[in-house]
Amino acid sequence: MATTHFGFKTVDEQEKARHVRSVFDSVAPKYDVMNDLMSAGLHRVWKRYTIDLATPRPGDQVLDIAGGTGDLSLAFARRVGPTGRVVHTDINEAMLREGRSRLLDLGVVLPTMVCDAEKLPFADESFHIVTVAFGLRNMTHKDQALAEMRRVLKPGGKLLVLEFSRVAKPLEKAYDWYSFKVLPLLGRWVAKDEDSYRYLAESIRMHPGQEELRQMMKTAGFGHVDVHNLSAGVVALHMGIKC
Ligand SMILES: C[S@@+](CC[C@H](N)C(=O)[O-])C[C@H]1O[C@@H](n2cnc3c(N)ncnc32)[C@H](O)[C@@H]1O
Repeated sequence: MATTHFGFKTVDEQEKARHVRSVFDSVAPKYDVMNDLMSAGLHRVWKRYTIDLATPRPGDQVLDIAGGTGDLSLAFARRVGPTGRVVHTDINEAMLREGRSRLLDLGVVLPTMVCDAEKLPFADESFHIVTVAFGLRNMTHKDQALAEMRRVLKPGGKLLVLEFSRVAKPLEKAYDWYSFKVLPLLGRWVAKDEDSYRYLAESIRMHPGQEELRQMMKTAGFGHVDVHNLSAGVVALHMGIKC
């Protein structure tokens, strides 16, 4: 059995998928409030930047992978209009359900599908834009997921990967303190789940940095990859073009 990382632990590959599922089953009801709290609302700015860089046009076909509670799906739906289509997907039903009822409350009806990014159930060259926000880090075979994302993009289509990355050196100590001391406490007080927020901090440290992820996207076949550091590298937005 092949092994991989779940945070700082080494686990069987199948065990990782189970652990990731239980993290998101547990945090789903408090996911949105925790996001605002942990990032002081900054995740909204990072996501707006992602949408602006994607430059969706009316009529575009968009796939939101690991879409969770639907922030990106909602923003894309408003930009592609009634002639376009946004497919809101995630491997986790509890996260999708939170997202779906939130979108319905806002009067937005989208196709919502449970699906694994490593085996996308879509035909080749189906989408103009594919996005994955804070999801790639949790995937077991990131290279396979990136190859699938490229496969379902139309030629000239864009993949946007928004993910935690390597913070600038002078901020490292403060960021470590915040991640390993403050985040788990916030998790305990608000989501009643300290371990999931410790996993968040650990998984960020195990995720490839800016340059390594750019190389992975190149290896997956993206002819051109741009990297945008946001908030001093706390987060990076990688945009790959299928050339
Ligand atoms: C931190 S949440 C991000 C949700 C949303 N994109 C956002 O930015 O708010 C990460 C999501 O990745 C999903 N995920 C993890 N592994 C996945 C996989 N293999 N395929 C699809 N989604 C996956 C989780 O279920 C979870 O909903």
